[in-house]
Amino acid sequence: MSRPFIIAVASEKGGVGKTTIATNLAVYIKALREDLPVTIASFDNHFSVDQMFALGPRPEKSITELLENIPLAELTVLGQYGVQYMASARRLQPPSHAPGWLRQRLHSAALPGILILDTRPILDWFTEAALLTADLVLVPIKDRAALVNAGALRQILTTAERVDRLWLLPSLVDTRARLNAEVRVHEFLTYAARERDYQVLDIHISKSPKVEGLASGFSSRIRPVLTHARNTAVHGQLKQLADFVLSRFDTEPNLMCGSQTGLMPEELAGISAGHHRRLVLECPCCCRQSLSDGGHFYFDLRSRRRGFMHATCLEQLYEVLKLDVADGLDDLVALTIDGPGLVGAEPRLTTHLFGADGGLLSSEEIDLDEQSSLVEMLSMMIGRSLDEAYHELILVSRVAQNAETQLADDTYRDFKLRRRQFTRELRDAGLF
Ligand SMILES: Nc1ncnc2c1ncn2[C@@H]1O[C@H](COP(=O)(O)OP(=O)(O)OP(=O)(O)O)[C@@H](O)[C@H]1O
Ligand SMILES: [Mg+2]
Repeated sequence: MSRPFIIAVASEKGGVGKTTIATNLAVYIKALREDLPVTIASFDNHFSVDQMFALGPRPEKSITELLENIPLAELTVLGQYGVQYMASARRLQPPSHAPGWLRQRLHSAALPGILILDTRPILDWFTEAALLTADLVLVPIKDRAALVNAGALRQILTTAERVDRLWLLPSLVDTRARLNAEVRVHEFLTYAARERDYQVLDIHISKSPKVEGLASGFSSRIRPVLTHARNTAVHGQLKQLADFVLSRFDTEPNLMCGSQTGLMPEELAGISAGHHRRLVLECPCCCRQSLSDGGHFYFDLRSRRRGFMHATCLEQLYEVLKLDVADGLDDLVALTIDGPGLVGAEPRLTTHLFGADGGLLSSEEIDLDEQSSLVEMLSMMIGRSLDEAYHELILVSRVAQNAETQLADDTYRDFKLRRRQFTRELRDAGLF
């Protein structure tokens, strides 16, 4: 199993905008890539993450349990703006393992998409652990002192041979302030940082009274820039920052299977764009690349994620679903998932077979209890955890096909027609 893409926002200097950047980045990434799971957690005891993302009562578990061996899915809850979060904790005690332990823990976690870690303004166990696990370290610098402080973070990353992950980001910049007639503060900071051989983003985050106001005032809620300060320069800057992060994410190898979609493989250059939109590169069952060889096409209606399963993987799926796929059936098999809360406390999976004439033949409910590999595979297909499922419909083809043929106009048109017909059949039968 591979892993999530991890971003750490760190600086030993306090009040440089770490938390504001981390929390808003989560919101902007989610807004730009709706189908990408985004999770945020903070090692700080300020509860800013909770103040922005909490939905409903305080979750039972918090980031404290991140230090234990509990499945990560039990620590993350769905929050505002579609972002998942881990509840913060007032007091976090560092465990006895070395900080590098967190990397192993997160790298073996079945948490798809992007994980953002906000850190405290000290170089403690947690900040070091976040640095060592991150694929991308963002260090906001607002003045010379913050730049000097970045040296300690760089030292840790250099020793771990991960210094290429480090990016400085001029933050809280007063764009009107100038050092002299020509040089603005962020230009000076960028220049000074590059002179010291740092990678510096060509983006800066301006200081804005409106943005400052989002986290102060009498409300216990913190509002995102995206929804409450859209007319500020910071809005465009955060969007650029999210674009930068997504470009790094898209080129990072060995991530959690099914995380990367929308990439255009060269061999599919001739295929109409609509047919390979949200194309997932790996097989949802074994997580190995499945696109170049093709296989059994699958499509999830709500997320519009699509991809290919290996033939042996599909056989395993038939087995766990106890599906008897005899002759005389249509090539497409349908799976519906009713999310928790719709029909009961747990998600419910039903399989549906159609006859060669397209009529619905049979539907069977599948018990998901203790079927963790099935649950994981279904999550890959729909691009979110089953706990977040709503009304999902997945179609899987029984016929293997190479990607070029499957996604070519004629085959795809036929698939779309049948998809509509089956959706109608299921709706008419009250099953979807
Ligand atoms: N772009 C901005 N414009 C104006 N004020 C900002 C901006 N970003 C953050 N602030 C304000 O600056 C203060 C510090 O920001 P923030 O809490 O994000 O920094 P931090 O580095 O996380 O601080 P700490 O080190 O205490 O955790 C907060 O009051 C916040 O509202
Ligand atoms: Mg903070």
